[in-house]
Amino acid sequence: MSICYVNGSYEEKTSAAISIQDRGFNFSDGVYEVMSFSGNSVINFDKHVKRLSKSLDSLRIKKPLSNYKSLELILKKLIKENKLDKGFIYLQITRGSCSRNHLFPKLSKPNIVIFTFTAKLDKKFILSGVKVRLTEDLRWKRCDIKSISLLPNVLEKQNAFEEGMYESWQTRNDLITEGSTSNAFIVNRNGFIQTHPANNFILGGVTRDTLIEIAKKNKIKVVEKAFSSSDLFLSREAFLTSTTAKILPVVKINKKNIGNGKPGQMTQALIKMYNELVKCQIHE
Ligand code: PDD
Repeated sequence: MSICYVNGSYEEKTSAAISIQDRGFNFSDGVYEVMSFSGNSVINFDKHVKRLSKSLDSLRIKKPLSNYKSLELILKKLIKENKLDKGFIYLQITRGSCSRNHLFPKLSKPNIVIFTFTAKLDKKFILSGVKVRLTEDLRWKRCDIKSISLLPNVLEKQNAFEEGMYESWQTRNDLITEGSTSNAFIVNRNGFIQTHPANNFILGGVTRDTLIEIAKKNKIKVVEKAFSSSDLFLSREAFLTSTTAKILPVVKINKKNIGNGKPGQMTQALIKMYNELVKCQIHE
């Protein structure tokens, strides 16, 4: 049994249904969040809620829940019902169901779907690092909205997989924006952490923001400035961040080693610090 939440009711995941007139289904007219949980605690909940609220406002979709305390209660109930110690939550809100017309519907209510899932991260990725390929960023100019429209991301993730790599890092005018499912970082030649600024060309990752906070707290200099492919090849270390992968060392780009081709010291220190911070958020 796996229980999900659909528009106010808790249902078995395999039989839960949403209308074929859902605008997410017809137009990708919706937003989503992926959160992680441990015990009964949703990690970085406030940051996810803030980004969800921004995504909904950007697309002018009404908020289906009166406040985020009720969302937290729903998430906790789902975690309990599904009897999971650790895992992830997928939440999707679309503009609602109505007959197909590009114009916003006048009467429909947003559809909200939430379910839990588990995903095992290969330990090898953390210990030995992952390989990444570079590719052109074909996406629109509002990548800051966590929209459910993910075709370029899906295609580039698949291309990476088929080439035996973990991720594709996308470039605009030779500047690395972000991965197809994660944010991109280097430790540059000066030993500073460098990543693309959180503007409309990237999704402002919750893990990205948390990592930047941790680094600054530990007096590690962070530069939010886009880096080029040559900056990348000359960098000391590289890594990526996302809710599902947390922090993963990147050791090869397009078959070229980064540094000595092994996870870097700074990356390993950041992984430790991040895991400590997550531990502090878990209230069993
Ligand atoms: N993806 N950039 C993109 C394009 C992403 O899809 C994601 C996350 C991130 C990292 O964001 P965060 O740290 O908030 O997870 C950056 C999620 C996990 C997904 O679509 O499954």
